[in-house]
This record gives sequence, C-alpha cells and structure tokens, in this order.
Amino acid sequence: MSQLLIFLGHILEGNIIFMKIDFEKASFKDFENIDGQDLNTTAYKFVEYLNFLKTNGHLNYRIESLTPVGPEMNLMLPGDSSPTWSVCLVSNDYLGFSQHPKVKAAVVRGTEMFGTGSGASPAIGGHFIYHQQLEKKIAAFYKKREAILYTTGYTANSATLQCLLHKQDIAILDMAVHASVYEGCITTNVKTFLHNNVEQLEQILKNAQNTYRTKMVIIDGVYSQDGDLAHLGQIADITHKYGALLVVDDAHGIGVIGDTGRGVIELFNAFDKVDIITGTFSKALGNIGGYVVAEPHLITYLKFQSKQHLFSTTATPAIMGILKAIDLVDEEPQWRTKLWENINYLKSGLVTLGFDVGTSASAVIPVKVGDIPKTLEAGRLLLRAGVYTNPIMYPAVSKKNARIRMNVMATHTTVHLDKALNAFADIDSQLHISK
Ligand SMILES: Cc1ncc(COP(=O)(O)O)c(C=O)c1O
Repeated sequence: MSQLLIFLGHILEGNIIFMKIDFEKASFKDFENIDGQDLNTTAYKFVEYLNFLKTNGHLNYRIESLTPVGPEMNLMLPGDSSPTWSVCLVSNDYLGFSQHPKVKAAVVRGTEMFGTGSGASPAIGGHFIYHQQLEKKIAAFYKKREAILYTTGYTANSATLQCLLHKQDIAILDMAVHASVYEGCITTNVKTFLHNNVEQLEQILKNAQNTYRTKMVIIDGVYSQDGDLAHLGQIADITHKYGALLVVDDAHGIGVIGDTGRGVIELFNAFDKVDIITGTFSKALGNIGGYVVAEPHLITYLKFQSKQHLFSTTATPAIMGILKAIDLVDEEPQWRTKLWENINYLKSGLVTLGFDVGTSASAVIPVKVGDIPKTLEAGRLLLRAGVYTNPIMYPAVSKKNARIRMNVMATHTTVHLDKALNAFADIDSQLHISK
C-alpha cells in the first residue's frame, strides 16, 4: 500500500469503517473531527500525519528559537542537532518594539513596582493602576474614551462577540476575518460576504433589515493572510445606511498603517464611523493582550458581562511595556518609515522576480504558490537556505491559495532582505512558482 495512504479502521456496531486520508494532500482540518473515530484514534492518526510531514522535512511548525525575536534568529531546525541562524520573516513584531530598550525598561520597572502577577480577575481585586492607564491610553490612541483589556487579541474578538450577540442577532462577516471572529459568532446567526465585496454586503444587510435585533458587520482592517486592507470607507457607509454596527479588528494595522500609525481607521479617517475597534498588543506593540475600544456604555457592559474578562486574571505588570510602546508610535516614527522602506524593498524584489504577491498593502506579504505539497517544499527549501517563512494552507486559506507568508520588520536590513530574495530565486528554479 502506498505510503501516502493511511486507512483508519474503526469497529462500529460490528462493521469496520475505513476512513481514507491521503497524507500528501491532507491538512490539519482533516483531523479536527473524524467521523466515527474516538478521540484517541483521531489523535494517534494526527500524530502519524505530523510524523509523515516530519519525515519529509515539512513540519515547519513550532520551530524552536534560541534567541530573541529579531530580524535573525538562531533556530533548532527539525532533525538538526545544532542551531542555524536564519533571517526571520515570521514575526509580527513589526516595529521591533519587543526588543526596544525603552520598552524593556518599562517592563522591568513594572515588574519591580508591582511584581510578576496581578493575583485576581478585574472585578475582585485584579484591577491595578497600570490596567487603568492602559485602558485610557489605548482608547485615547483611537480618539475614544473607553477601552477594555483582554488577555489576548484572540479573546478580545471571541469573547466580546460572544457577549454582545445572541440568537436574535446577526453577525455579517467578511469571509476572510480572523478565526477568533468566527469563534465569537458561534451562538448567533452568521452570514458571510465575499472578501471586500460591498455589493454582497449590501444585499445581506437589505435582507436582514427587519429580521434581527442587533446587526453587526465585522471586518479586519488588514487581512492576516493576504496583507490587503478593508474597503473601510464604503463598508462603513453601507453598514450605517442599514442601521448596523461596524466592528473592525485592526490587529495588523496598529503601528503600521496610517500617517501616525493609528491603522486602517486612520487611513480612511473613520474614527467616527467604526463602532467597535478590536486589536492586539502582541504585534507592533511587542507584548501580549487584546483590547476593545468603544463608547463607554458598551465597554462598561463588557466589563461586567463578558465572562472571559470578568472571570479571568488580569494581565501582569509587564504590560507597562505597552504604555511605553504606544508612546513610541508617536515619539519614534522613524521605525514606521523604516518598516515601509523594507516592505517596499521586499515586495518590489519579489515582483521583479515574477512572484505573485497578491494585493498586499501592509507588512504581511504572501507569495502565492497554489498547491499544498509545493508550498510545504518551498517552506522547507527556504528554511534550509536560512530564510524562515510560514507556509500557509487550508484551512487558513483555500486549497488553491496555499502560499508562503512573510512578515516584514523595521529591523530588517537590506542584507537580510536580499538573502530572502536570493533564496526565493533559487527555489524558483527548482519549483517553478513565479509567473
Ligand atoms: C487579524 C487578527 N486578529 C486577532 C488575532 C489574535 O491576536 P493575538 O495573537 O494577540 O491573540 C490575530 C493573530 O494572530 C490576527 O491576525
């Protein structure tokens, strides 16, 4: 039997049911919920699949770095016994603030003043001056009055939407929104529109007009797989025309997009048009945690009704680093300038080599490959050439849209980016990815 085909046998009511999974074409999704298989069988088969990837050098996940986040990292590559220095094109630390001396000093100061933990959830003893300051600061950053903090950007979306939307409501999602948004909508009605398709959005809003209590349109500012931007102006106008609320998750836009780094909302001058802004401290702001910014009554509601906020311990004093990182977005705009020089350099280099970078307009740059085995092999070859990128495939993107995804940082030099471009040119001669 071909090594590529694995048959899962399962005895059910006296019958053996065989489940065929072609490991060559499989993705993680195929192991999420295998029909008729109990948990242990599913998990064992998934481990077998991971071993299959590992044997082929395609398990490019959870690669251990021995050095800090940066433009180069010393990595323990799968199967190797000693580490390799690689150009890092996988980090969302776009401005390099996780390593900025002033940010690190603020984290140390926070720890010295307040210790390593906050000790309780916010309503019952875990709300400290540094939480209060960060709420105020991130709200003011977006010209609003109030914000709520979550432990991750993921829960800022999932927990907030879960709290605000119920069976009589509807969430209308751009189909390319982050997984955390989908998760937040599992207990409400959901309709999706094709990515950035304003006509389809309008049709859905028209049909939903008198059927639902609260209607919410939810989009990303920057889309995390294509790196393209929301058509925010038109989407905001249509959303409000039909009396719906607009939610924008600008996780990849903050610090990167807009003249002063306020993200896609600044680019479209839409501060008054977005009802709820969500985002993360884990990318350009170099820390961890999520936030939601909105009118005070909504934020107060969330603070006492959103279970993942209410019943979960608040962030550690290390978030004092975020207070400094937000200041630095204004105080040191040179990082954003350098980031954009790097984005343009890498993108135009890839285009010159003939690669399809899609509609990227941010620090996220994909190289479209198109099929899963080729994408995995491209990831492996790049890694072996000392260039660390992310192979992305189904279910994160559709099967025919598999790609290598890169994240550019302000701290990359042209030496780093040239190394990446040379590696792409080399792998192209073997895999024929360019047009
Ligand atoms: C668009 C978007 N929203 C939310 C998140 C979740 O943020 P965090 O990693 O801080 O949980 C991500 C993360 O990777 C993202 O790309």
